[in-house]
Amino acid sequence: MSVRILGIETSCDETAAAVVDDGRRVRSSVVASQADLHARYGGVVPEIASRAHVELICDVIEESLVEAGVSLDEIDAVAAVRGPGLAGALLVGVSAAKAISLAADVPYVGVHHHEAHLYAAMIEDPELEPPLVTLIVSGGHTLLVAMDGHGRYRVLGQTVDDAAGEAFDKIARFLGLGYPGGPAIDRLAREGDPEAIRFPRPMRTDGHDFSFSGLKTAVVQYVRKHPEAEVADVAASFQAAIVDVLVDKLVAAARETGIDTIVAGGGVAANSALRERLLDLAVAGELRVVLPSIALCTDNAAMVAAVAAYRLAADGPTPLETPVVPNLRLV
Ligand code: KG4
Ligand code: ZN
Repeated sequence: MSVRILGIETSCDETAAAVVDDGRRVRSSVVASQADLHARYGGVVPEIASRAHVELICDVIEESLVEAGVSLDEIDAVAAVRGPGLAGALLVGVSAAKAISLAADVPYVGVHHHEAHLYAAMIEDPELEPPLVTLIVSGGHTLLVAMDGHGRYRVLGQTVDDAAGEAFDKIARFLGLGYPGGPAIDRLAREGDPEAIRFPRPMRTDGHDFSFSGLKTAVVQYVRKHPEAEVADVAASFQAAIVDVLVDKLVAAARETGIDTIVAGGGVAANSALRERLLDLAVAGELRVVLPSIALCTDNAAMVAAVAAYRLAADGPTPLETPVVPNLRLV
């Protein structure tokens, strides 16, 4: 049976809406980034994000319907991210979804932002099925998760301090590269030598958890001591250290669980050095690797509609009184 879902994402600084059929076929995906609004503050300002979501949400939803060539009465359900994220920002998308649910008389589905990041891979490869080992690397989280089945997760490891994206953003700010930092470092690193400086690879072979604050401190200390260092070399060497840790942990988790398909998601999965290393693994035939396209790695609503198809089939609609939860847990 076919199900068409309108997905909405407003957990951070992207206002997004998308229409997806059967959890895997994207009819439209509209993302309005607020990055320019936050850039001058060097990071996301929650109150500015909420206000911008309020201004953008109706137009973004409308555009997603027009692009998909459907009207509201051709939608079977409406989904929104209800956590984790910024409370005021989450409320905008969830309130819009609940209003549409009432007005169009369709079920509402509240979804988890990281579970949505994981389902981006299902859009990329419509045949993809669990078991999978997944790495979710975003601005706020670094999670290594075994997905044994739809809705069945085991968190194997997570960061004990900074998230991977947060480390990219903080180092970019320190190097004067602006916000958001990940794409800026990624771009500059292409002109630098990743082996120029040997930064530490914290907890590389030590369990499934991550720690990036020591690496951050090492970069800051190095640059203070060597102000003449090429910024591109610092960026490339820092990026190489993070990528080494992420890839080694992912491969170790696959070996330990005996699961041979790995998936990455979240904004940092857009990083070109990380993608290259993961694709090398696939080429070497060691593991099956599924990488969502870059637009599906960073925040978007297609992934929201995709996961909602599974949640709706498994759990039914989410009651309208269910609140947003800024620190919602995956398991
Ligand atoms: O998943 P996402 O779009 O939003 C959150 O859920 O947080 O991730 C945003 C994070 C930011 O920290 C950003 O700097 C990072 O992803 N990011 C990247 C790249 N593109 C975005 N990090 C490294 N390389 C990139 N190309
Ligand atoms: Zn995200």
